[in-house]
Amino acid sequence: MEFNKEQKIIGLRVLSDNVIWLWKKNNSVVVVDPALSKPVIEYLRTYNLKLEAILQTHHHLDHIGGTENLIKEWPNVKVIASVKEKDRIPFQNISVKNGDKLHLLNKEVQVFEVIGHTRSHIAFYVKNKVPILFVGDTLFSAGCGRIFEGTYKQMYNSLKIIKSLPKNTLIYCAHEYTKSNLLWALELEPENQNIKNKLIEVEKKNLLKELTIPFLLEEEMEINLFLRADNLKRFTYLRANKDSWV
Ligand SMILES: [Fe+2]
Repeated sequence: MEFNKEQKIIGLRVLSDNVIWLWKKNNSVVVVDPALSKPVIEYLRTYNLKLEAILQTHHHLDHIGGTENLIKEWPNVKVIASVKEKDRIPFQNISVKNGDKLHLLNKEVQVFEVIGHTRSHIAFYVKNKVPILFVGDTLFSAGCGRIFEGTYKQMYNSLKIIKSLPKNTLIYCAHEYTKSNLLWALELEPENQNIKNKLIEVEKKNLLKELTIPFLLEEEMEINLFLRADNLKRFTYLRANKDSWV
């Protein structure tokens, strides 16, 4: 797999449905939520690249599992995580909070706290001509993260923050759940042509073994029922419905 000339970001599929994002400039790479170290090390060694930073959106093992070995390989790597997670992401060396701004690969990166999936989940927003959001497990294409530690209200407010970003924002989430999310959404809105079209597109990509992410915020506003929920009651209904959907 080669880096896309425009965005310079590629996804490594690992475990059953995780995606580790590698964001590159020249010979430096920033990795987002490395579930595992081996595929990242192999990729960077193959292309003679250096790991500059690791971004951690939250503490779940399928997001931080590879970090300690990556630190052994690149001892000077920056490990950026929420200051509230010093216990659960103990190897962090740059601790951030909502609103903080960092500079990585010559870009400004802003930290947004998007609570709900966990009590301190963060997302990283890269200011760019085409803005980029590394959103972890807060938003998926046609879905959103399960609420493990936060409240429905917190998750609803987190989605509002995402909705307020420029509509041309490209969103990089950490799991490939798109098809099953669309099938669920179609059960609730069987006549929704946008969802039907998206499902056709996603099935084609699945057949070709291509990723269905990143996705565009503007397009997601049409097909993601959680983003389209215009009040907390509707959001709560949808989240509970999805949790019990098989
Ligand atoms: Fe998670």
